[in-house]
Amino acid sequence: MNLTKRSPESSSAGISPIWIVAGGLAIILGGLIIGSFTPSLLPPQASAESRQVDDLFRFMLVIGGAIFLLVQGLLVYSVVRFRAKPGDTGDGAAMHGSTTLEFIWTIIPAIIVTVIAIYSVVVWNSTHSIKPNEQVVGAVGARYAWTFNYNVTSETLPPGLTVDQLPTDTQTALNDTGALLFSSGQLHTWVNQPVAVSMQTNDVNHAFWVPGMRVKQDLLAGRTTEVRFTPIEAGVYRIVCAELCGSGHGNMAGSVDVNGNLQGAWLIVHESEDVYLREFYEPNARQLLFPPEDPALRGRAILASGKYPCASCHVVNDLNWVGAVGPNLNNVGNRAETRVAGLSAAEYLHSSIRYPGEYLVPGYNNLMPQFNPEPDQTNYMPEDDLTAIIAYLLTLKVDA
Ligand code: CUA
Repeated sequence: MNLTKRSPESSSAGISPIWIVAGGLAIILGGLIIGSFTPSLLPPQASAESRQVDDLFRFMLVIGGAIFLLVQGLLVYSVVRFRAKPGDTGDGAAMHGSTTLEFIWTIIPAIIVTVIAIYSVVVWNSTHSIKPNEQVVGAVGARYAWTFNYNVTSETLPPGLTVDQLPTDTQTALNDTGALLFSSGQLHTWVNQPVAVSMQTNDVNHAFWVPGMRVKQDLLAGRTTEVRFTPIEAGVYRIVCAELCGSGHGNMAGSVDVNGNLQGAWLIVHESEDVYLREFYEPNARQLLFPPEDPALRGRAILASGKYPCASCHVVNDLNWVGAVGPNLNNVGNRAETRVAGLSAAEYLHSSIRYPGEYLVPGYNNLMPQFNPEPDQTNYMPEDDLTAIIAYLLTLKVDA
């Protein structure tokens, strides 16, 4: 085989500086055009922080778009300009590196990365700064549901209520702990209220992601993490788990069911503080401050509050629960009576919540978390709560 070497001159093009300048301008313009698609790539801006985050995203998209056009442009140019001519079986020119080129392609990316890093830190510091008058909400992630905890203190009692009007037990509890908690499966706040979410996980790592608010933060086992945002638009925004946490990870969000009842974890932004207080805070706080005497009603209130993540896996028509992972509980009051020989219905339900793996319902796997009696254990459920929940479950009967 007769290989002829092509001379270097035959493959190095003498490109006029005008073309280089024109190409550079075209690439910059192209990057700006690609960057202009930013609003259509992201959900509407629902938080005060969204603008800064989106501007940073656009900045990086312009740079990324320009680099994309540069690389692809050179590739296409080279394929066309340096393609083999018919009958030319020669090899390419031998090259042994170029210090100038290597210097350029090291220094330019280094500058770009440094600028992006500085810009990112500025945005990070601004969006994470502590705001005055924050509403602090506790969030707990558990496979596969979100629970949000709200404080009721002697200062934040609903209007018209004073501590001495509360039942004695409630007064004692409030004095002992300084604050009483009620829970919800939804995070409620209102427009222009800075929110700080303090997050913990009951089991594995999860991630709290609200695309509309442009916040995403991991929940790390054994640690408390925080996220901050200020809603600027009333509406209902989806919270998504963004960390693979098990077989139900994809369900650790929420959906609006066909009846318009909200299910699962949503961020609900009310148009004002008044509406928030009237529609959400006060009814929940009053229920907590004046617990019903009847244990079954108390159990229903506990389950309806979302304090425990049962709704994500069980169907209970009375509570609008539509979970499809575990057994349907609509007739659990009937079933529990004969479920395990030698156990009363209440004993069986007690065992099913404290030790879910003990007597599995045929056809179901051992997926339910164990709810433990001691405060220092994971999935803590005080005996009082459990007794009330059992009293309520025993009322769930379907007439034969
Ligand atoms: Cu929780 Cu994925």
